[in-house]
Amino acid sequence: MCGIVGYVGRSQAAPILLDGLRRLEYRGYDSAGVAIINGDQVETRKCAGRIASLAKLISQKPATGSYGISHTRWATHGKVTDENAHPHFDATGKIALVHNGVIENYQTLKEQLIQDGDTNFQSDTDTEVLAHLIGNIYQKLNPPSPKGSDVAGGKDSKARLVNATRAALKQVIGTYGIAVVHADIPDFIVGARRGSPLVLGVGKDENFLASDVSAIVAHTRDVVYLNDFDLVSLDRENFEISSIEGTSGEHPVSKVEFTAEDIKKGDYPHYMLKEICEQPDTVRDAMRGRLTYEECTAKLGGLDMNPAELRDIARIVLIGCGTALHAARVGEYLIEQLANIPVDVDFASEYRHRNTPPTEHTLVFAISQSGETADTLGGLRESKRKGYRTLGICNNVASTIARESDGGVYMHAGPEIGVAATKSFTSQLIILNLIGLLLGRMRQLSTAQGKRMIDALEALPNQIEAALKLSDQIKSIAKKYVEATGMLFFGRQFNYPIALEGALKLKEITYLFAEGHPSAELKHGIIALVRPDLPSIFIAPDDAVFSKNVNNIEQVKARKGPIIAVTSGNGAKQLKNLAADIVEVPTTIDCLSPVLTVIPLQLLAYHLAVALGRDVDKPRNLAKSVTVE
Ligand code: F6R
Repeated sequence: MCGIVGYVGRSQAAPILLDGLRRLEYRGYDSAGVAIINGDQVETRKCAGRIASLAKLISQKPATGSYGISHTRWATHGKVTDENAHPHFDATGKIALVHNGVIENYQTLKEQLIQDGDTNFQSDTDTEVLAHLIGNIYQKLNPPSPKGSDVAGGKDSKARLVNATRAALKQVIGTYGIAVVHADIPDFIVGARRGSPLVLGVGKDENFLASDVSAIVAHTRDVVYLNDFDLVSLDRENFEISSIEGTSGEHPVSKVEFTAEDIKKGDYPHYMLKEICEQPDTVRDAMRGRLTYEECTAKLGGLDMNPAELRDIARIVLIGCGTALHAARVGEYLIEQLANIPVDVDFASEYRHRNTPPTEHTLVFAISQSGETADTLGGLRESKRKGYRTLGICNNVASTIARESDGGVYMHAGPEIGVAATKSFTSQLIILNLIGLLLGRMRQLSTAQGKRMIDALEALPNQIEAALKLSDQIKSIAKKYVEATGMLFFGRQFNYPIALEGALKLKEITYLFAEGHPSAELKHGIIALVRPDLPSIFIAPDDAVFSKNVNNIEQVKARKGPIIAVTSGNGAKQLKNLAADIVEVPTTIDCLSPVLTVIPLQLLAYHLAVALGRDVDKPRNLAKSVTVE
């Protein structure tokens, strides 16, 4: 939610900042802006709209200078207007600030500033209040001596800006990832984070700040992932990190796993399609090195638990939001079936405020592609506070959830840029299956059952390839239903969550009404919606509950509802006279079938969104990484 980029070096800042913002546009795209320092002038360009509008503004009125800060916004406080776009300034107009997060006590801070005579606010944002607060404190701190070596812009001024930022942040309740510059302090940026991600990029004669490494990986792969309450100051050659409290700590430089090439769209028209098509590889990567044939089980060293601890687990809680929650719902069915361990699934946003009765030997898994989702992070922290062992299933390496968990399993799906989650979902499903296999093999699963599951897992990448070949068929189904005002999705057992996921994908990127339900719930109310112009999509592979699904399909057919069936094995033969369209995916074992049945639903949402002329990769009102509650 919101993305920030800062640059200090010897090149022109504007193209670097703009390019970085484009890479962060998935985080929000309501408005964008830059502040670049030219001499002692701040060149500000900002506007409502996408990065393309900002780029146009800069091409009409170039902003020169070799250091600056920038922002792409997902509005929380204040409407989407030019005024509310970042950067924001202090009362003197010399200090510019960009911010990702929410200053919860901004009203109180604003009143205090107004009482102090500072009334010159230009926007409705919480961010501007922070800029004013830093400026207000900066003014009150001892100014540098004009005669000595510490002339304005020298060492004292840098320390003064750092101290003013630190003092202001100590008064803030809320979350922030910020970057601050002062027009009179050349080649110098201050950054800080709490609850919103911030990474420092270490270059040669240049340094960077960004919400996410993808913004800077084209320039450097050496990065320092900042922790909550870190405050960093950087110039061209150096950087210094301390805590908001002023203490220092360890901050190793890490190498980013992926390259700038990996975040290019290549020949694909959209990131979403690219990411759907990457799934044979990402699924392979999610299980790479994690299966052992000798013992017919999974190896998940990141859990950091010995066999006795694994055997002792009495309950598992899975939390997440959106698509990650749907993966958790599949996890519930499969861990219970494979390992016979009770599993609870909850929306992270609900779980964190619930008063669940404490239980012994409970593991809590927080599932999150970004590893930054505020609700999931809140759930994780609440679990930790209660003393549970808390593990992360994340894609973003070194994300907050990954770092704050006691252990976990990385997805290794590579950067997911399309706002609608696709490849991360199937990676989550694989990891949950590996967890089920591992825990099952500590309990009731025989060697033969373990081997059967490993064989099925290994077959998946090729089967996904086959499912992707359905794209043309699904495109024609999408065309056929382009006038539909909505769709219903139904599934049972492992595929009930796939009905939820299919509906979510459709809603997100086509803006059509869609709902997912357990097939059997039809007769308890939803059947009232069935009519000839509202397609029902049944996810009904040839599994243990296939015949039950057929009953429900009959009920829709009897009421003249058009049916699209996603099936496998002998399913197609049996559905021939019931479904208007039959999409056949390869056959696998029941607990893995969601990995295959979800592919046509991702493609359906995609093709329908394209046919409707929607902005597939940046659907309205959404942002990929939801770092606000
Ligand atoms: C759906 C989607 C969202 C995310 C949700 C959680 O396509 O992208 O529903 O799944 O915001 O995000 P992460 O997994 O980053 O915690």
